[in-house]
Amino acid sequence: MTDPQLVLAEGVQRALAAAFGPEYAAEDPLIRPSQFADYQANVAMSLARRLGRAPREVAQAIADNIDIPGTVEISGPGFVNLTLSDGWLAAQAAEQLADDRLGVPVETPATVVVDYSAPNAAKEMHVGHLRTTVVGDALVRVQAHLGHRVIRQNHLGDWGTPFGMLIEHLLDMGEAAAVAQLEAGEGNPYYQAARAKFDSDPAFNERARARVVTLQAEDPETMRLWHIFMNATIRYFNKVYTELGVTLTDDDIAGESMYNHMLAQVCDELESRGIAVISDGALCVFPPGFTGREGQPLPFMIRKSDGGYGYATTDLATIRYRIQDLKADRIIYVIGVTQSLHLQMLFASARLAGWLPDEVRAEHVQIGSVLGSDGKMFKTRAGKSIKLLELLEEAETRAAAVLVDRDYDEATRAEIGHAVGMGAVKYADLSVSHDSEYVFDFDRMLALTGNTGPYLQYATARIRSIFRRGGFDPAEPHGPIVIGHPAERALALQLLGFGAVVAEVGEANAPHKLCAYLFDLASAFTTFYENCPVLKADSEEDRQSRLALAALTLRVLVQGLDLLGIEVPERM
Ligand code: ARG
Repeated sequence: MTDPQLVLAEGVQRALAAAFGPEYAAEDPLIRPSQFADYQANVAMSLARRLGRAPREVAQAIADNIDIPGTVEISGPGFVNLTLSDGWLAAQAAEQLADDRLGVPVETPATVVVDYSAPNAAKEMHVGHLRTTVVGDALVRVQAHLGHRVIRQNHLGDWGTPFGMLIEHLLDMGEAAAVAQLEAGEGNPYYQAARAKFDSDPAFNERARARVVTLQAEDPETMRLWHIFMNATIRYFNKVYTELGVTLTDDDIAGESMYNHMLAQVCDELESRGIAVISDGALCVFPPGFTGREGQPLPFMIRKSDGGYGYATTDLATIRYRIQDLKADRIIYVIGVTQSLHLQMLFASARLAGWLPDEVRAEHVQIGSVLGSDGKMFKTRAGKSIKLLELLEEAETRAAAVLVDRDYDEATRAEIGHAVGMGAVKYADLSVSHDSEYVFDFDRMLALTGNTGPYLQYATARIRSIFRRGGFDPAEPHGPIVIGHPAERALALQLLGFGAVVAEVGEANAPHKLCAYLFDLASAFTTFYENCPVLKADSEEDRQSRLALAALTLRVLVQGLDLLGIEVPERM
């Protein structure tokens, strides 16, 4: 099956080449939705001046030369209105129904490294990490589905000077008590207690500093304690991942500590090659094009004047590893928008060093902040910080309360509540463009109307119930598909765009486009269902065709939601 927009675009391009010469075959035909046809091509207007002709004349030349499975009309100043034939649409929809991939292309496989989630062990995992986790996991699912070799990298903040005091605090508390607190997600109070002692107790402060030295030297006893601390912390992260249905596992952990032994070498190499220079005692790269307020070159500092390494050093070692060892063709960093300058300087420095070759794509998927109803960062409520796991549990409880059918036993209700609650939270993260902020609001994300996760889950449950009521099974073959009513055309056109949208989401790292597509699909189905009775259709032919369209819609919705990491309960 083929994407209708693509078929029309190629048709217009061939017409342009035939009318004006082969150099116009690559022209963007500017296909847009139209009020008067399925689509319109606006290229006649933009080409007219270059061709030295009137737009309507250009439009006429396109119409005279075009060969598409449908009809052409010229309107207004030079719009080319394009309408696909009912028969073509029906045949394409039938092909999509017969296709396991529902029209999603398999791309030439590349190795795609996706850096996401990456909470810090020394601090609490917060909703910001929730969003990078949810968006990253959707991107991973889309890349894998498009046929790529995906390597997940969870770049945990698991190294650095705070670990001296964190380990000493663990010894003070006793291992078992410390582990219990960390596993319960109490990373923040743990950190604060350690910090308070560090600031007020000179003996503790001294022990903590000494511990940093033995940690840097990877002394076995210190490493044992570090592992106890990290394992307990990771167990908490895993609880959050499991709850969310995120695909990250322990095998994907590649935290900052992993690069520790590469840092000196990174600095030495860049210094000896003259790519990094000493400036005020620190070793810095000055990537071209980065300047401060007074026009002075901005440093990307890889070794502080006291000899310590930092976030920049680790990330340079990391990007080199991902390209040289993991053989990445593309690296996607799903990280907060506030780290944008760091990443731009990282990419520029790595290009300068020759570690990031031109043919490898490095992209920062900037994640916007999640805000509370007060418009401030959503981190705390009534003065105390919100634990992520508790937040997710609250989503489930609230979801269970909005379930439509109320005759569920407790276990079923909890199961559906889980799917709907997680769907709501995840969809809220995914449905707005990843770089914009949004306000975390349970009532809005759990609403059964509007562009929400529960609305789309409910749309699938409604289609399933049509089949149930008629004694049909959506998995069984239905059809043939016949397109007659305008609502059937609109639904078929929307269905056929699925593959192109998934490819675009993969290309542009834009899950919100898949959300918008699925929302439009659910709306097109609603209009179809209001206008075209399925079970009570006038003829068996119509019923079969509409059952096939309903089954196809269900499959596309379920597949689309799955690519977003959203589970679909059979009933709601
Ligand atoms: N741990 C960092 C944070 O919480 C995110 C790390 C992202 N990945 C990276 N390669 N820098 O802000």
